[in-house]
This record gives sequence, structure tokens and C-alpha cells, in this order.
Amino acid sequence: MTIQQITLTQPDDFHLHLRDGEQMQAVLPYSARQFARAIIMPNLKPPIVSTEMAAAYRQRIVSALPDDLKNSFEPLMTLYLTDNTTPGEILRAKESGIVYGIKLYPAGATTNSDAGVTDIAYCYLVLETMEKCGMPLLVHGEITDPAVDVFDREKMFIDRVLMPITQHFPGLRIVFEHITTQDAADFVTNATDNIAATITAHHLRYNRNAIFQGGIRPHYYCLPVLKRESHRKALIKAATSGNKKFFLGTDSAPHPCTLKENDCGCAGIFTAHAAIELYAEVFEQADALDKLESFASFNGADFYQLPRNSTTITLSKTQWNLPKHIDFAKDILIPLAAGETLLWKLD
Ligand code: NCD
Ligand code: ZN
Repeated sequence: MTIQQITLTQPDDFHLHLRDGEQMQAVLPYSARQFARAIIMPNLKPPIVSTEMAAAYRQRIVSALPDDLKNSFEPLMTLYLTDNTTPGEILRAKESGIVYGIKLYPAGATTNSDAGVTDIAYCYLVLETMEKCGMPLLVHGEITDPAVDVFDREKMFIDRVLMPITQHFPGLRIVFEHITTQDAADFVTNATDNIAATITAHHLRYNRNAIFQGGIRPHYYCLPVLKRESHRKALIKAATSGNKKFFLGTDSAPHPCTLKENDCGCAGIFTAHAAIELYAEVFEQADALDKLESFASFNGADFYQLPRNSTTITLSKTQWNLPKHIDFAKDILIPLAAGETLLWKLD
């Protein structure tokens, strides 16, 4: 008998882009209706570089929640690491109780990363402070050296940046965000318990052929870019393994349609409209629905040393059609799998 319904401890999203203002207002309810908490990425323009900015951004998010979700969604804030971040700022962030991680974007690696770190050596004092006070480092794991092939940037980041950091700071907790390769899955599996990784629904569902299916498909373009099938298989194996180091982070990253369907289209895929359902399909296809709850609801909370949620959600085996587009302030955005049919639906 096939399973028709599953009830899970309410999941959290450990990597989410909410943007700001009217754009945030448009996308926030999609996340808040399924997730209890989300780690909020700080790559706004200008980036969230101080605890003060994070507190104000947090307030804007809470105020933008619709009334029925006001008390059921908690934004977990992060700071954007720059060459100029000080140890004092890290201590302020820790003391605030609202900042849960510091995000490392190598300068120029992805959307709104111009203010990112130019050389990790500048940050060693800050990393030492984070190690001591127990503040996790969240990494966009791609090298930006233009000489390195775009499909090899994650692997090269492990060798050139991540290995040295883990050796220098063995007590630092690190989340290797949105991993896309077998190399990254292996690295995390073999590392100490201080190293974990998030995995997106789109990297579990698609390989890089999706970007070129009958033409160029900007809505399948994100960073790190989709990889070949063998890597996708390795990610599915990691996500469905039950290994506590792997957990849910959608990297849902909304962009106006016009900026994706563009001569120089933005990186980022929006998945918040159906995130938990998109993951559920993957887990079912891998015959691992019994592992969905640990991946979506336990492993991340445990790694971040947060209490597990006490609320639940229920998914039913109900076919439904995903919207073709979604309102995004003055624009529209095209969500992942727009217009396609999904097999699971959140009640
Ligand atoms: C993200 C965005 O649009 O902010 N884009 C993406 O392709 N994932 C930034 C990021 O997480 O790299
Ligand atoms: Zn992201």
C-alpha cells in the first residue's frame, strides 16, 4: 500500500532569501505557511553587516507577516561577513540573541556579493572569535578565480578555503550551504561533527541539462550552478541517508521575471511556493519518505542548537498544479516547475 498522508514535525528552512520591502511582503507568506523558522540571508543592497541592521531587518520581516502567521514564524537573522567585520561585531551579534550565523560570500561569487570577502585571511581574527563564542559560519562555497571552470568552483573552494579553515578552527561550526557536488557531500560526511551542509530541492531534482532543455532556460539558473547527474545522485544519497549533518535549506531566491529573462540573467531559483512538497517528491522517489522528517525538521535545529519544533504539518498525496507565475511587488516571478503537477500537497 502506498502512503497517502504524512505528518511531520514542522520543518525549518535553513537558507532563505526574503529580500525586503514590497518584494518581501509578496514572498514571505509562502515560507511562513510551511516553515516555523528560517535562516534569513543577509545579501540585501546594502548588505546586513551589523547587529543593528539585522535587528531592524528582523522587525521589518515580523511586521510584514500576515495576521494569521504572526506568531508562527520566526526569522533567524545572519550577518554578512566583509573584510572589515570586527570581533566586536561578532560578540554583539552573539549577545543579541537574534543572530544565528555569519555568512561568508567570496566577493563576486553570486547575487549581491560585491561586498563579500576578498581574502579569507582578513577574517581570521573574526573566525577565532566565532569559534570561541559559538557563532556558526555559513559559507557560499565557490571560489571566484575566473580561471577556474564554473562547474569546478565548489570543489576548488573545498581544497583552497574550507580545508584550511577547518584545520585552523577545529571548534568552529560551519554550514556548507547549498552543496551541489559529490565532492562536497563526501567532504561533509568525512569531516568532524562541526561541519554540516544544506541541500536545496532544486539541486535534488535537476541536473545541469535542465538549463539547456531545448534552449536556454534562465529559470533553472542559480549559483552554485546545477551539476551533472552523478552529483545529483550523490546529493540524494546524502539527503536521504539519515546522516544528521545534512538538512533542508531551500535557497529560495526570488528575482523579477524580467531580470531572469535577460541578456545577463540573475542567478536564483524561487522554490518557497512548494518547498516541502518538492522535497517530499524527491524523498518518495528515493523510497525514503521515512527520512524526510530528520532532514527537514530535526537535523538543522540540532546543529544550530535550537529546540525542535513542537507543531506539525501534514502532507497529502493530492495532485495539484503549480502556478505559472507569482506576484512579486510590481513584477512577477516564475517559480520552479511553474505550471507543472506536484504529487504531494501541504494541508
Ligand atoms: C542567491 C540570490 O539570488 O540572492 N542566488 C542564487 O543563485 N542562489 C544568492 C546565493 O545564495 O548564491
Ligand atoms: Zn542563497
